[in-house]
Amino acid sequence: MAAAAALVTATAAGTSAAVVRLQRVAKTYRSGALEVPALRGISLEIPSHRFSVVVGASGSGKTTLLNIIGCIDAPSSGAIEVCGADIAALSDDAVSDFRARNIGFIFQTFSLVPVLSAYENVEYPLLLVGMPQAERRRRTLAMLEAVGLAGQARQRPNELSGGQRQRVAIARALVKEPQVVLADEPTANLDSATGASIIELMRRVQVQSRTTFIFATHDPQLMSHADETFVIRDGQLVEHHAGAAR
Ligand SMILES: Nc1ncnc2c1ncn2[C@@H]1O[C@H](COP(=O)(O)OP(=O)(O)OP(=O)(O)O)[C@@H](O)[C@H]1O
Ligand SMILES: [Mg+2]
Repeated sequence: MAAAAALVTATAAGTSAAVVRLQRVAKTYRSGALEVPALRGISLEIPSHRFSVVVGASGSGKTTLLNIIGCIDAPSSGAIEVCGADIAALSDDAVSDFRARNIGFIFQTFSLVPVLSAYENVEYPLLLVGMPQAERRRRTLAMLEAVGLAGQARQRPNELSGGQRQRVAIARALVKEPQVVLADEPTANLDSATGASIIELMRRVQVQSRTTFIFATHDPQLMSHADETFVIRDGQLVEHHAGAAR
């Protein structure tokens, strides 16, 4: 298992320009007799080191797409490659390990653990990958500092503002230095000034750490920062606007 994990991480460090590749990915949800086709044969490549944005009406399949890219959910059919790894070829354990090492998540509702402090929420992903205590502490403190929350380390989520909670969520997503960060409507619960500062923070991290950010969003402000835009409608890719090379 450890050897397999090392192999996956090694592959992930490859030099491919596209960090995500989907080929004819379909996803149908089944609940009882009901079948809901959420994605209908999406093929796309997402370049590394950019802000890519997935837009589309409510119910068009954005969250489903992000969950598949993030290996939270498996497609019903089609192939998916993330950071050079063929996800379908990995065992469940290897997928969990791959996700823990390579992918960071930011959710609309922040999804922080309410009984943990800001420090503990940010440290948590490092516990999952078995990082030694001294290194965990160094990275967690540096990350809290980077998002401007060094003074709030001991506060719990309910003692923080919405913008501060989202910054904790961003710090938690970034602390393990993932290659890919997936953010589902990260600014939806923030006022526009706070949203702007969160976008600026993510952009700074993206430039400094060469992280790939993939957003699902309805927020025009976030859309305007996209290097690359994918428009989906009824589970299909209908438009793709490529930005200039970075
Ligand atoms: N767990 C589920 N079980 C059954 N159907 C689902 C499930 N999750 C999503 N769906 C359906 O799949 C389709 C795509 O949903 P999805 O959540 O991906 O849309 P979305 O683009 O993220 O929408 P929104 O902008 O409202 O967040 C919708 O028709 C939705 O009802
Ligand atoms: Mg959604």
